[in-house]
Amino acid sequence: MKKNNSFLKSYKNLKVLVTGSTGFKGAWLCNWLYLCGSKVIGVGLKPEKDSIIFDSMDLKKKIKQYYIDIKYFEKINYIIKKEKPDIIFHLAAQSIVSSSYIDPLNTFNTNISGSLNILESVRVNKIPQLVYITSDKCYLNIDKKGSYKESDYLGGFDNYSSSKASAEIVFHSYFHSYFKKGNLSTVSARAGNVIGGGDFKKDRIVPDVIKSLKNKKTIYLRNPNATRPWQHVLEPLSGYLLLGHKLINKELKNNLLPSWNFGPYKKNCKKVNFIVNLFIKEWGEKQKIVIKKNKQFKESKLLSLNIKKAKKELSWEPRLSLNETINFTIDWYRYFFLNAKTEKISNYQIEYFLDQ
Ligand SMILES: NC(=O)c1ccc[n+]([C@@H]2O[C@H](COP(=O)([O-])OP(=O)(O)OC[C@H]3O[C@@H](n4cnc5c(N)ncnc54)[C@H](O)[C@@H]3O)[C@@H](O)[C@H]2O)c1
Repeated sequence: MKKNNSFLKSYKNLKVLVTGSTGFKGAWLCNWLYLCGSKVIGVGLKPEKDSIIFDSMDLKKKIKQYYIDIKYFEKINYIIKKEKPDIIFHLAAQSIVSSSYIDPLNTFNTNISGSLNILESVRVNKIPQLVYITSDKCYLNIDKKGSYKESDYLGGFDNYSSSKASAEIVFHSYFHSYFKKGNLSTVSARAGNVIGGGDFKKDRIVPDVIKSLKNKKTIYLRNPNATRPWQHVLEPLSGYLLLGHKLINKELKNNLLPSWNFGPYKKNCKKVNFIVNLFIKEWGEKQKIVIKKNKQFKESKLLSLNIKKAKKELSWEPRLSLNETINFTIDWYRYFFLNAKTEKISNYQIEYFLDQ
């Protein structure tokens, strides 16, 4: 049965600020909000060398973009104070586990202090709604068989995970100290391994596999037997937008824990090896796989999110099958390699998603 999409109407003419607008998820979110008729303000660093999504979706023409570093309170506060958005989606982060080993200072400063700057600016400027994105990796991962639910312990054995767990702890401190009044107005969201067109980040499985397939080069895997909660980027974004809608309409009671998981159904939690072979099959050309372990990186074997709360309280559910997720991803990259501009395919994929 087709799901209800009326929550998107809340965004028409709304002033929405998205941090991380030049990144993979932020760019998709900005494009989606633009289609909903929002006045979108983006905050992020200039796109990195390989990052094509911001330009390929023509976001420069669609949103008002600020290139600033959220590590500096004065800079981000100046924008938030000036723009006074109705809602903020905070996605900006140093998001790569391997980079968190190479540059721990930037990782902790961005993910903890940068996020703290957003919370403080929301507080002092009385911004009415905030959706604060962290990660599935914020949970203390003990490789347990079951899935992690929102009330589970936070923690991390690597810099990225612990920076995200810390960002959650700071969020909860602000929530209890300042925001826990009336209905929920600030929430944190934790999503799983997000895939889809437009991600060109180094050391992420899907972009690495796509680059190898396109260039007919060997695929290197660090951790082929790790199980991850794979989901198309539109899945968690639909969860964030639904959460935002509920906040705007004051539909969430403050006796609910303000954190929310958005992950796939258990059947989509597959091993890296399985997903990579599915990509190779759908791409249509064989490619050699070589296992290249990196002993420095502590990577969990198993990670799965419990999504019962989002299902019960928000009526949110994943919409795409694993095959649709893989095919959407491959179709987007193939289109990009031929056309460079990706507005048409991105908008088509959003429409298809909303038809499910
Ligand atoms: N992609 C995934 O699989 C995944 C999974 C779980 C959680 N997340 C989280 O979702 C969010 C978005 O992820 P993504 O995949 O789009 O990441 P990304 O790396 O593609 O984009 C990160 C964005 O943050 C911005 N940014 C980084 N440091 C900044 C700074 N100091 N000041 C201002 N902007 C800065 C970048 O410019 C970019 O716009 C992040 O918080 C990430 O940790 C991602």
